[in-house]
Amino acid sequence: MRKLFIQRYTDNQRINHWMVVVCFGLAGFSGLALFHPSMFFLTNLFGGPQWTRVLHPYLGIAVFVLFLLMFLAFWRVNTWKREDSQWVEKAPKLVFEGDESQMPPVGKYNAGQKLVFWSMTLSLIVLLCTGVLFWQAWFANSVPIPVQRVAVVLHALAAFIMSLTAVVHIYAAIWVKGTLRAMTQGTVSAGWAKRHHLLWYRDKMEGQARVPDQRAG
Ligand code: HEM
Repeated sequence: MRKLFIQRYTDNQRINHWMVVVCFGLAGFSGLALFHPSMFFLTNLFGGPQWTRVLHPYLGIAVFVLFLLMFLAFWRVNTWKREDSQWVEKAPKLVFEGDESQMPPVGKYNAGQKLVFWSMTLSLIVLLCTGVLFWQAWFANSVPIPVQRVAVVLHALAAFIMSLTAVVHIYAAIWVKGTLRAMTQGTVSAGWAKRHHLLWYRDKMEGQARVPDQRAG
């Protein structure tokens, strides 16, 4: 029997996402290399310490600009709705007991995904704003030293929150079976959509394109 698949992301959205992932990985590793001497060896990945220092801010800007494109595409579907607060209330049962029977039906994203989205957005804003303040090559000369010191701390804090959020995001994408293909192939099975995003599924069924695909299981 042919399985029904539903379009969740366009090709451009997926290319955009994976470019964010690559640049985020590079910005993260180059940042870690500069953060603590124990991670100095990571500078070898970037052509040595000088190059790491030169490249890190540009990689950060690349992440920000690429993420901005995703933000513009997805911010509306990530706005908070009444069912999201109910979802958060019931979430412990889902996370700790694996019991999804009491979860309220949600649209394209559930409250957990929305929180991840806004955490990423805020962290990246803080990373950009604080990063430019101590960017030696361009701006740091005109920023008072105490301000730069505060900026460094906030930059590291935002990087920590961003990394933690990315780990949660990746874990959830792998943990919820059938999710990864949304970003690898652009489609999800109708069963996945019905089970995890019932309101979105109903919306899609009311007239949007369906993608039959025999290849996937
Ligand atoms: C190996 C790492 C990653 C994997 C495997 C991954 C996987 C995925 C998957 C499967 C989705 C679709 C989820 C769905 O439609 O329900 C998604 C969406 C998304 N991902 Fe990732 N991701 C990764 C890293 C990242 C990173 C580092 C960022 C940001 C810096 C990011 C930002 C996003 C955003 C903004 C969305 C759209 C969802 C939304 O608007 O809430 N991802 N990702």
